Parts: sequence; C-alpha cells; structure tokens
Amino acid sequence: MRIAVLKERRPGETRVAASPDTVKKFVGLGCRVVVERGAGNAANFSDEDFTAAGATVVIDAVTACADANMVFKVLRPMSAAEGGFDEISILRPGSVLVAHLSAFASKDTVQALAARGVTAFALELMPRISRAQAMDVLSSQSNLAGYKAVIDAAATFGRAMPMMMTAAGTIAPARVLVFGAGVAGLQAIATAKRMGAVVFATDVRYAAKEQVESLGGKFIVVDEEKMKAAETSGGYAKEMDEDFKRKQAEAVRAEVLKADIVVTTALIPGRPAPRLVTADMVANMKVGSVIVDLAAEAGGNVEGVHRDEVITTANGVTIIGYSNMPARLPRDASALFAKNILNFVTPMIDKASATFNINWDDEIVKGTLVAKDGQIVHPGLRG
Ligand code: NAI
Repeated sequence: MRIAVLKERRPGETRVAASPDTVKKFVGLGCRVVVERGAGNAANFSDEDFTAAGATVVIDAVTACADANMVFKVLRPMSAAEGGFDEISILRPGSVLVAHLSAFASKDTVQALAARGVTAFALELMPRISRAQAMDVLSSQSNLAGYKAVIDAAATFGRAMPMMMTAAGTIAPARVLVFGAGVAGLQAIATAKRMGAVVFATDVRYAAKEQVESLGGKFIVVDEEKMKAAETSGGYAKEMDEDFKRKQAEAVRAEVLKADIVVTTALIPGRPAPRLVTADMVANMKVGSVIVDLAAEAGGNVEGVHRDEVITTANGVTIIGYSNMPARLPRDASALFAKNILNFVTPMIDKASATFNINWDDEIVKGTLVAKDGQIVHPGLRG
C-alpha cells in the first residue's frame, strides 16, 4: 500500500493531511508513505520530521502520485478549469482519494474524479454517529475555528475581556454573543468564558440550551416548542420558517446591540448560511465592537461580511470574515485532520497483507463515498 500526501495548493491553505505522528502509524500498518516536498512547511512539519517518521519525501506531486494507491489531501484537488496546476490529472485511475471535497458545492470536481476513475471519499459527509466521531473533520476543525474566532476578536477589540478591579477603576467584562451553539459555537463560548467575558448564545436547536448553560453561557430562548421540533435525527439544524426567524431576530437584536463581540457559527448543511445579523443591526452596534463571521465561506451570517477580509464599518464595527479559520492554526488543525484520516482509513487496510479491505456496505464508507468505478455514486449527488 503506497500512500501519497500532497502539498495544498489552494490560496490561504496552510494545513497538510498527514502529520509525522500519523505517518508513523501508517508505516506501522505496513504502508509506504510518500510526502510531496514542503507539504508540511506551513504547518511547521518539516520534510525532516516526515522522513524521521518513516516517510519518503519526493520532489513533486506528480512523483508522489505516480504509483500511489491512496492520496491524502486537505481540500479538493485543483482542476484544469480552475487555472492552476491540474491535480486531478495526476491521480492514478483506480487510486483512492481522501479529502474534504466540498462535494455538494463542487459537483464538477466529483464528476472529474469519477471520469478519471478515482475512488473518492468526501470527509465532510461523515455520518454523525458516535463510531465516526474520531473521523469527523468538520468537528475537529470547527472546534479550533471557534477558539480562534474568539482569540482574533479579543486581539482586535480595544478593551479587556475580563472584569478588572484596579486602583485606577473597574473595567467591565466584555459581553460576547455567539450565534449557533454547535461544535464551533460551544468552543467559542468556552474560550470567551475562560477569558472572563459574559457570554450569551442562541441556536435553533433546543438541545443546545443545556450545553450552553453547562459552559456558563446564557441561552436566549426564542420559541421553545418550535425549537424542540427542529432537530433532525442527524444532529443538524433544519432551515427554520420565516415566523421563527423573525421572532428570533427580534429577541436577539437587543443582545446584538449590547454586545462587544459577536461570533456567528450558524450553518445549515448543503444550504447557504442563514442571514442572522443584518446591516441595520451592525449599524446600531457600539463603536469598537467586533464581529467574527465563521460562516463566511457559506455566504456569511452577517450582512456586509467580506470573505477573507477584515473591514471596519462607518460606525466603527470591525467584521472579520476569514473563510478558513482552521488554517490560522495550521499545526494543530493539521494534526487533528491527519488523525481523523488515520481513524477513517485504518479499518480499510488489512494489516497482514497491507492491502485494501474495504467493507463497501459499512455506513461510514457508504456515507462518504462519492465516486467509484467511473461513476458518481453518492445518492445526494446523482441526478
Ligand atoms: P453546524 O456547523 O452544522 O451548525 C452550527 C450551529 O448553528 C448548529 O448548532 C446549528 O443548530 C446552528 N444554527 C443553524 N441555523 C441557525 C440559526 N438560524 N440560528 C442560530 N443557530 C443556527 O453544526 P455542528 O457544529 O457541526 O454540530 C451540530 C450538532 O451535531 C451538535 O449537536 C454536535 O454535537 C453534533 N455532532 C455530532 C457528531 C457525531 O456524533 N459524530 C459530530 C459532530 C457534531
């Protein structure tokens, strides 16, 4: 079994899909690991670190993929149509690709992978079952994103986070409001609490209330009955109706106007992010307040957010719109992403022969497989 690890080529991507730790584990499983030169540089994993872990470092991506059975990447490969280096054409027909493919938003990529004869697994489609928790890149990366959102906000905010009683006077604690108490939101709440802020949160899932409160946050309840009915069996939120959205907007508007820092994390899988903070709310926020929109990549929860930019509005509100927050903590994000891949791939490898032994009927395999034998195979992508 020969595994190739490629350097990420998309702008702003600093992560890498393997760490020295996971390379060691794959070598222990009898695999040969080939890493493209410089693949880990931006994540502070040097070529020497990978070599010491048992990998072979090769000069370029073409050489890495030349006889690879399996290829690991963080983000979906570049296609010729995107104007850069065509990574899909260097994948061997019959090889297995494991990456965050953004399959639903990038059907062209899945189509190109199928046409190339690649067996492709989209990590973002990992089923939300307890057995898959250790393989879930959305969770591992969102957790870091939630943390870093608060760190970025605090660094931009021209005031302190905790209450301070000094001889020169008392500083009031910062007021933080978090939209969406999923993985990223809960970590944002925990981080802001640890820094001494007073934290409020809102979510459409009623189950989030207890989690927010257990972290010391205050949950803004909008319509309890609708909230109870809105959670899907998969643990995701459904798109809410207009009546709910209006009531929620009214209830939280008052909190937005009082907030020093707002972190938005609300996502609906496969859909544009819900618009929760309007331009009118932003225009009425306090001067010096900071918003971090973690949904920027999905269109943003905040009206006026500029993807991958930090802007300050006319009334002095800073809006941070980094679309790839985990890439701002590349070493930890890579280590966790790599571990997710290790946990996902290990059951597919027969240790005695170091060859594939994939159970195509497994719920996790079926849930993430998007292309095989020249066809798009995921039910959500066909038709
Ligand atoms: P997500 O990234 O899809 O969404 C973030 C949060 O935004 C969610 O809590 C969602 O309810 C909320 N949201 C959506 N629309 C909103 C609106 N209009 N206003 C306010 N909030 C809104 O969700 P994430 O972080 O991936 O987690 C969702 C749930 O799934 C959590 O309960 C988490 O514990 C669970 N989960 C389970 C896993 C497993 O069992 N393997 C793995 C990861 C998460």
